Amino acid sequence: MKDNIQSIEKRALDDMKAVESLDQLDSLEVKYLGRKGLVTSFLRNISRLPAQERPEAGKQANFVKLKLEDAFRSLRERVVSMGSSQSQGIDVTLPGRYIPRGTLHPVTKISREITGIFSRLGFEIVEGPEVETDYYNFEALNIPRYHPARDMQDTFYIAENIVLRTHTSPTQPRIMEKQPPPVRIVAPGKVYRCDSDLTHTPMFHQIEGLMVDRDVSFGDLKGTLTAFVHEFFDEDISLRFRPSFFPFTEPSAEVDVQCVMCRGRGCRVCSGSGWLEVLGSGMVHPAVFENVGYDTGQYTGFAFGMGIERLAMLKYGIDDLRKFFENDMRFLGQF
Ligand code: FA5
Ligand code: MG
Repeated sequence: MKDNIQSIEKRALDDMKAVESLDQLDSLEVKYLGRKGLVTSFLRNISRLPAQERPEAGKQANFVKLKLEDAFRSLRERVVSMGSSQSQGIDVTLPGRYIPRGTLHPVTKISREITGIFSRLGFEIVEGPEVETDYYNFEALNIPRYHPARDMQDTFYIAENIVLRTHTSPTQPRIMEKQPPPVRIVAPGKVYRCDSDLTHTPMFHQIEGLMVDRDVSFGDLKGTLTAFVHEFFDEDISLRFRPSFFPFTEPSAEVDVQCVMCRGRGCRVCSGSGWLEVLGSGMVHPAVFENVGYDTGQYTGFAFGMGIERLAMLKYGIDDLRKFFENDMRFLGQF
């Protein structure tokens, strides 16, 4: 009987070599390991053996049973994996699985484009904190306590003397405190104001510019900004310098560019005027130089602050500022 279980094992292993399908495998497994299978019957018949042979025969038979169970399991895995690649086939000409590619947010793209233009003009790119002290956001910029810009309606206060910066201008005194002239920097970043409509959002982006040296004039300001607008849009877009007021510049000017939506004819976006304000600028006020310890007898400078979303709207012909922050992939994927 001992020989018998060995021969059953050998036959099973031989039979397995010929298996090509799951059906064949199933019936083979039943033949050997099923309830009436050869191995199972052998085990059942052990009780008929003489008592002294039973332990050894049982041991042998159980050993063979485990071994065959193992062999059937791995053969099944092989047949299954063969079946899936053979019966369905692999079509190597099919296109690969599509992995969607991300795009840069239009604000990021425009911001990089603007800082790129200024760095080619010799400006260095720096950054300042978004959570700012009252001192840098207002005081150092010659905006005293009673100034309306400090109104709770416009400024988000974090604590009594801590605000979310309302513009990127605090980077001006911060950089000037750290280094003597000449200074030539641009500083992009987020700013916050309690404001929301078609052309205003509570968080938006600005780029600050500052140039300080001997003999810097309003002509340098005009030349630099005109060169920038022509490089950013194109040579024939009109711009105009309009007298304005900022406590930290004197004289001050705002720059408007021709509305690209209507080419200056007047539309909803430019409120019928044909022009859109894109930046504030001016000659650095002597009071600001005094706050940072610059010699007002030796140095002059100009500064400007522009709205990145405004420039992106004009460049891409977008009519609602809020689209930048709704995170609609159909909108963002276009850039
Ligand atoms: C300022 O913020 C000054 N700090 C600019 C400046 C810097 C003047 C240096 C002189 C020297 P103003 O509040 O006008 O100024 O904002 C500047 C630009 O930011 C605007 O021309 C506009 O393009 C953009 N802007 C202002 N408010 C918003 C808003 N709520 N949403 C989107 N863009 C805005
Ligand atoms: Mg303004």
